[in-house]
Amino acid sequence: MDWEWKTIIEPFKIKCVEPLGFTTRPEREELLRKAGYNLFAVSADKVLIDLLTDSGTSAMSAEQWAGIMRGDESYAGARSFFAFEKAVREITGLREVVPVHQGRAAERILFGIIGGKGKTFLANSHFDTTRANVEVSGAEAVDLPVAAALQFDRPAAFKGDMDTSALENKIREKGAKNIPLVIMTVTNNSLGGQPVSMKNIREVSAICRRYKIPMFLDCARFAENAYFIKKREPGYSTRTPRDIAKEMFSYADGCMMSAKKDALVNMGGFLAVNDENLARRCREALIIGEGFVTYGGLAGRDLEAMAVGLNEVLDEEYLNYRLRSIEYLGEGFRKAGVPFVEPTGGHGIYIDAKRMLPHIPPEQYPAQVLTCELYLAGGIRGVEIGSLMFGKRKEGVFVPAKMELVRLAIPRRVYTQSHIDYVVEVMGSIASKGKDLKGLRLIEASEYLSHFTAKLAPVA
Ligand code: F0G
Repeated sequence: MDWEWKTIIEPFKIKCVEPLGFTTRPEREELLRKAGYNLFAVSADKVLIDLLTDSGTSAMSAEQWAGIMRGDESYAGARSFFAFEKAVREITGLREVVPVHQGRAAERILFGIIGGKGKTFLANSHFDTTRANVEVSGAEAVDLPVAAALQFDRPAAFKGDMDTSALENKIREKGAKNIPLVIMTVTNNSLGGQPVSMKNIREVSAICRRYKIPMFLDCARFAENAYFIKKREPGYSTRTPRDIAKEMFSYADGCMMSAKKDALVNMGGFLAVNDENLARRCREALIIGEGFVTYGGLAGRDLEAMAVGLNEVLDEEYLNYRLRSIEYLGEGFRKAGVPFVEPTGGHGIYIDAKRMLPHIPPEQYPAQVLTCELYLAGGIRGVEIGSLMFGKRKEGVFVPAKMELVRLAIPRRVYTQSHIDYVVEVMGSIASKGKDLKGLRLIEASEYLSHFTAKLAPVA
């Protein structure tokens, strides 16, 4: 539809509502203390606005709920599997489609087969579960983002891109035969939800072909990436998001997807490849750990909802609203003097705690301090992407992460503009008194993905 107005509205109306979890500040203080200053340990009904993740938190459409009723729960060869397979094949152009219960199951299966000691995986940035699954297999994960990706205060159109000369250098250093895969995460979640340009995908693919290394998309947010390409990359403004997505996939030898993001479902994922031999090995591992090849750890109704969601997410009015609503949050933060990774990403905003709380050193987890303060002040839950998530604590030596960010991820089709206005107001008030905030110390942490279960306490 032609839209001559400045205001971009939510392109849906609401049929079913859920109450929010209101609490008092003293209640939140107590809850946070009991949770070891880790928001993963706070129960969701004690959270007012939950921006912990955009994963599995989407509101499904009436069509998706109708699909849930249509779901075929047959063990083998369910009708819903074929609907799902068709949707994935049409968008990705990849022939072999393997359903899994979520993204990390695809990672575990894939890296269990092609990973192992002595192998190196290269990516624009590995997401934390991707890195963990690579490392658990005995292999190493190396991130090769463009330099601009780490200049958080300077906007650029495609900060999700991979540094192609670093890629070539790494391939020569490690030897192509030791690199089973190059991964392009679209959009780049770990560094601000920033998009990858088609030009970069094309160039990385060409380099990979030259060295005979397969290139996969980690495509959890492929539709948001496609829409950024439409808006920002010359030559794409008149193309449809579907057409752009198809072109993105055309350069890839395979993909893995956490469908909990851009398939607009609460659970699901898949692996898709052209290599029949690799697909056969993936299916063997699937049967052992996830389920039969036509359901892979999911119910038939989940497959049906994914089939609908994968097509719905490419709707232009939806994508326009989606990216605009996050820009709107950014405009509010900018006015309130809150520093964040510029420009805003496709699925959320990443507050720069290093700049906001310069008096708190990395070993006192400034981004986690800010995450806790957002909860204390306004019942808002975000997630730390900093030294708690990516810092290394080995043999008593602390190696900080490159960034100290707080991600506020926006669930799809869940919150309205007034919820966002509230987040801006709370954040603005924190920004004006940031100097008074104190650091945290780590009390307990596991070896892998420690941020999920870590316990912390305020420094004395
Ligand atoms: N790849 C990317 C780019 C992701 O963002 C995620 C999950 C995964 C893989 C793993 O998928 O959760 O379905 O097993 N990201 C969530 C987040 C958890 O909050 O960003 P999963």
